[in-house]
Amino acid sequence: MMFYRTVSTLAALLFISSSSDAATFRDDRGTVHEWDNTVKAKVAVRAGIGGVSLFHMGMTADQLVATWGIWGIRGSDFDPANPSAGSVFPELDPGPEEAAFLSGAVNLSPSCYTNPRGCFQMDNVTDLIPLKDQIDFVLFIDNGVDEKFLEVDAAGFPVIFVDTFYEYNENCRAFNYSLIDPSMCYGRSMIDIANRLEELAVFLGSDVDVNALNEQKQAACEAASALTDAAAQAHERGIRIKNIWLAVNQDENGTSYASMSDYDPIDLWVPRTLEELGMPLLHGDTYEEWGEITADQYFVDCEPGNVNQDCNGNTYFPVDFWMIDSRSSRLVDDNFKLLFPDRAILADQWWYTPMNDGPLSYKIIASYLTGFTERILAAENVQEATEECTPVDPKSIAHLKADGSGGLPLNAFVCYDRSLIQEEYLQCPDLSAPAPTADSASAPTAPTTASEPIAPTPSASAPTPTAVDGGSVPTSSVIATRVDSMIGALMMMLIAAIYL
Ligand SMILES: *[C@@H]1O[C@H](CO)[C@@H](O)[C@H](O)[C@H]1NC(C)=O
Ligand SMILES: *[C@@H]1O[C@H](CO)[C@@H](O)[C@H](O)[C@H]1NC(C)=O
Ligand SMILES: *[C@@H]1O[C@H](CO)[C@@H](O)[C@H](O)[C@H]1NC(C)=O
Repeated sequence: MMFYRTVSTLAALLFISSSSDAATFRDDRGTVHEWDNTVKAKVAVRAGIGGVSLFHMGMTADQLVATWGIWGIRGSDFDPANPSAGSVFPELDPGPEEAAFLSGAVNLSPSCYTNPRGCFQMDNVTDLIPLKDQIDFVLFIDNGVDEKFLEVDAAGFPVIFVDTFYEYNENCRAFNYSLIDPSMCYGRSMIDIANRLEELAVFLGSDVDVNALNEQKQAACEAASALTDAAAQAHERGIRIKNIWLAVNQDENGTSYASMSDYDPIDLWVPRTLEELGMPLLHGDTYEEWGEITADQYFVDCEPGNVNQDCNGNTYFPVDFWMIDSRSSRLVDDNFKLLFPDRAILADQWWYTPMNDGPLSYKIIASYLTGFTERILAAENVQEATEECTPVDPKSIAHLKADGSGGLPLNAFVCYDRSLIQEEYLQCPDLSAPAPTADSASAPTAPTTASEPIAPTPSASAPTPTAVDGGSVPTSSVIATRVDSMIGALMMMLIAAIYL
């Protein structure tokens, strides 16, 4: 708080002659938005990933005009009408406070917002139009796939895009959200998105309580630290982890069979996070057109049509612990174990992963990583595996490229190297001091520790420090973007001089 005020005062003194009082926020299409953030902006936003995250950052219900999409994560039994009943995914679903925050807003997805199969879009963009006078920004916090957002642009709303998939890079995404060059797209991990949403909350004039947020960051940092210790152990114990989604289908004779599809850990923010923190995640086949592996293919030593526990030692993926997308994780029951008698499944060594679902805040990072760590510590090595780890930096650009050249070959995994862990997660705020740490104040220009170029590093022209920021200065980037580069440098020197 004190830091915020001090910096604001500095900013005010320095830029008294500048043309505008507005804070700026450069979004992930490169659009620079302006807002006088002494005033609370009013917004429309997707409920779960946007609304709940911003609530954790300090947004209050008076800012939230409308929401769309499902409130919990897919596959959940969360009931917006009875939020205190809890849900099967307590780490990520809203609680009563989050639900109260969302329930005050206009619901633009009345047709689907309680559908656990998924609900990502507003029913009809025309429902947004009558709210135009009340809305300052429509927030598109998503992977860019919702084609209705071109209609929202066309209807003249100021849209702020926060990409949940890729770090901002002008050569990655076009203004219409299509990918120009996937080799220039690098996946974001949880903290990249949480940092971005924190900056957004500051820009929107929300009541960002630095002390409360620092407590959340402390919890996130402790959870990340425990997770990376558990990751080192998991490597020693030979545990292998894999991301999949499951299905139960019927063949031409009406007989049920299980199948699965996998994806590479560089593809989505949760596996990216786990890998950056050292977890042994198996890399995947890149499945074209949602290809799948059937139980017959998976159990290499079983006779087709007769998969069973006696032939489950040799499998297509040597997995000890499954990360199953939240929706299809609900398929796992005794009946499923007959269709898919995998050793890790039989031992209940699996957990759920949200896929472009669920909020992203320090609070969520803390709760989800803690739940994951508990389960990995309890997991045992059940599958023989001979693959050696691959010594690469899980943060390097080459590893993260979304064009198919990134990642590792099938069933390969990154070696545990404490010096290559994503330190961003492990920088705890200094709770004994009222001000955030000096580290992050100088973050806009601070190189990270690893020797290879780190993605997602902002390009030289990028004014926000998101990717390399330790995440504990909510205001610096917003302020940094107010100024041209020369004054910006001066500003940063001043901040560094005061806080280093
Ligand atoms: C959206 O609403 C408009 C106006 O009521 C209607 O003409 C249009 O067909 C609707 N679109 C969809 C996809 O339902
Ligand atoms: C989106 O923009 C890119 C680059 O301007 C263009 O090549 C592409 O055709 C556009 N896609 C659509 C669907 O309009
Ligand atoms: C379905 O049943 C027929 C007749 O018994 C058999 O020849 C065929 O292989 C079965 N199909 C599958 C997928 O098992």
